Amino acid sequence: MNSKLQTAVDQVVKDFAIDKQFLVGATEQFVKSMDEGLKHSASAKEYMPMIPTFVTGIPTGKETGLYLAADLGGTNFRVCSIKLNGDHTHELKQSKFKIPLDLMKNSTADALFSYLAKKVEAFLDEHHKEYSANTNGSLKLGFTFSFPVDQTALNRGKLIRWTKGFDLPDCVNKDVVELLQSHIDLLGVKVDVVALANDTVGTLLSRAYSNNEAKTHANTVLGCIFGTGTNGAYFEKLSNISKLDLTTVPKGATGMVINTEWGSFDNTLKVLPKTKYDEIVDKETANQGYHLFEKRISGMFLGELLRVILIDLFERGFIFTELFESRHGSLPHRLSEPWLLDSEVLSYLQIDDSTDLKMSQLVLENHLRLPTTREERLVIQKITQVVSHRAAYLSSIPIAAIVGRVKDQYKNDDRDFEIGCDGSVVEFYPGFQEKILEAFNLINPLEGTNKKLSLKIAKDGSGVGAALCASVAI
Ligand code: BGC
Repeated sequence: MNSKLQTAVDQVVKDFAIDKQFLVGATEQFVKSMDEGLKHSASAKEYMPMIPTFVTGIPTGKETGLYLAADLGGTNFRVCSIKLNGDHTHELKQSKFKIPLDLMKNSTADALFSYLAKKVEAFLDEHHKEYSANTNGSLKLGFTFSFPVDQTALNRGKLIRWTKGFDLPDCVNKDVVELLQSHIDLLGVKVDVVALANDTVGTLLSRAYSNNEAKTHANTVLGCIFGTGTNGAYFEKLSNISKLDLTTVPKGATGMVINTEWGSFDNTLKVLPKTKYDEIVDKETANQGYHLFEKRISGMFLGELLRVILIDLFERGFIFTELFESRHGSLPHRLSEPWLLDSEVLSYLQIDDSTDLKMSQLVLENHLRLPTTREERLVIQKITQVVSHRAAYLSSIPIAAIVGRVKDQYKNDDRDFEIGCDGSVVEFYPGFQEKILEAFNLINPLEGTNKKLSLKIAKDGSGVGAALCASVAI
């Protein structure tokens, strides 16, 4: 590699490096930020939202019944029916619909929710005809809506702001349960939207439901998502949630699940790494200045980070110069335009050990129409690895902070801790889980206990979790 290019790449490696001291300091800051968030309104920019969810218990695995779940959180809308069998198991039927791009932005709340209601109707027509007809009672539906919502009851919550590429301004500040229910009612479908849940709450509840503690010898203490976006939910003692009006909480409750919205950790950038690339990516988003932690970690942004770094190296004359000339002054549009470099591509580049990175060559040609030299591929792989390494290391911070915080709740319980995880990055990105655990062990929040932590992929998290939320609704 020529020495100027080598120096430029070394600089990127340095900018993205994360060491133990940083991890420990950032974890302390995260805990402080949780404390502040539990005192302040969920919509303040400076604090983590820490949203009370009005879910006051964790499932035991004995819950039963048939429920519907509708899940809006990224590029797909899912509708499912879930039969909880009461023995840690469930049966699930589901349909998945890709959200048309023109409903994600430059459109209206009514257009989006009318589309969602029609999909609920279509699902019932296909799988539960008995409920689409007029003869039976209504089915209870849990609505997994995975955006920051100011929740005021189990079935009430107003959208604070969109994330992950959605941008329908007239929806902000509206109650999303009311929106869905009113469009379902317009169709005459017999469904009651009884619970609103974030996907992380769903993941926590569904993993707790399927966790057979007698076998795993572990308590489920956190539900988290590392996918298009990132976030986590855990059970907090009521006495710590000072912003909560206790008259709104069911009698006898001792705690409540909190949706942290940790994507918004450190929106004022006190501790997070700030490279010029992070700044460029943030500027390209609709929620500029918000969810800055998410923008360093989650699937929606990993590809974009790689892309802007490569464009920077190109603009400084280090890579793609011959390609640019041979194309008479242009680069393939999937490289020159924002958001077209999918993080799935990074997962192939990450682990390519073929001679001369031939596999990457094919991947780059197929996915990005990008011909490359061997040297360029070496650069691309190195950058891919540092971007994803930083993402996985940063991901361990909230996990360590929350595990460290809840360990007191379990001091008389000798079981280990497990966390339920969902999302394409944690499930499919090569080595991501291992790196999270490696960084978690550097922070070592379980020091002084005999407990161990394991990550469990929570399949069907948001569907089963929403059903569980619906099951506790009155
Ligand atoms: C949203 C969260 C959600 C997370 C994972 C974030 O962008 O703000 O509500 O849980 O993505 O889907």
